[in-house]
Amino acid sequence: MKPPQKPPMARLDRLLANLGYGSRREVTALVARGQVILDGATLKDAGARIAVTADLPARMIIAGQPVDPPAPLTILMHKPLGVVCSHREAGRSVYELLPPRWQGRLPALSSIGRLDKETSGLLLITDDGPFLHRVISPKSEVAKRYVATLDRPLAGGEAELFAAGTLMLDGEKDPLAPAVLEPLGPNEARLTITEGRYHQVRRMFAAIGNHVTALHRDRIGGLGLSEDLEPGAWRILAPGEQAVIFD
Ligand code: URA
Repeated sequence: MKPPQKPPMARLDRLLANLGYGSRREVTALVARGQVILDGATLKDAGARIAVTADLPARMIIAGQPVDPPAPLTILMHKPLGVVCSHREAGRSVYELLPPRWQGRLPALSSIGRLDKETSGLLLITDDGPFLHRVISPKSEVAKRYVATLDRPLAGGEAELFAAGTLMLDGEKDPLAPAVLEPLGPNEARLTITEGRYHQVRRMFAAIGNHVTALHRDRIGGLGLSEDLEPGAWRILAPGEQAVIFD
């Protein structure tokens, strides 16, 4: 059996600053005001070294509230329509749907891949770099499942075309990997892809003369978007759920 891993240690002021509670000076003042409690005892020294355990929110109280979860943190969000996934794009971003303090976190939170502004559905946001890279790595072949509403009725040959692994997208030099299309109605289909090329689903239908009028992602690998998570709502992914993605 592996010996239990020791939790990482961090200076209290650095830990709280990296969680977005303010500058090192501001969090030092917070400690001096007796607003930081760990395991029932008020901390006096902002330079104290703290064991950063996953259950820290159950152990540490800041100004009367449980401390935010430490890194690594992964969020499962139901991305609503009309918000963007990048800080650099104009408009309201998915990060603005999270607690404002989280925008000051280090390591920073970033979405695992992106959904277009006009695409809704399952989006993962994480500060766990190795996990992010594993999910988006072409080697992992993680399946992303979408429901697309189409301008024109399905013609009948789309499933074979997408499954062939020969479809070329405009301006690209390599064909797409095989994808699975399941018709859901005359103008609706479920499409599962293992790549993440730019606007891939919309461009796939454009390549065969159709047009996507609505797009929603409901699954990444073995992880589904549950019906009770409303657009704009999110939850923290439990540690064991990361593995479900690669099932
Ligand atoms: N494909 C698209 O065209 N848009 C998305 O947001 C995701 C996949």
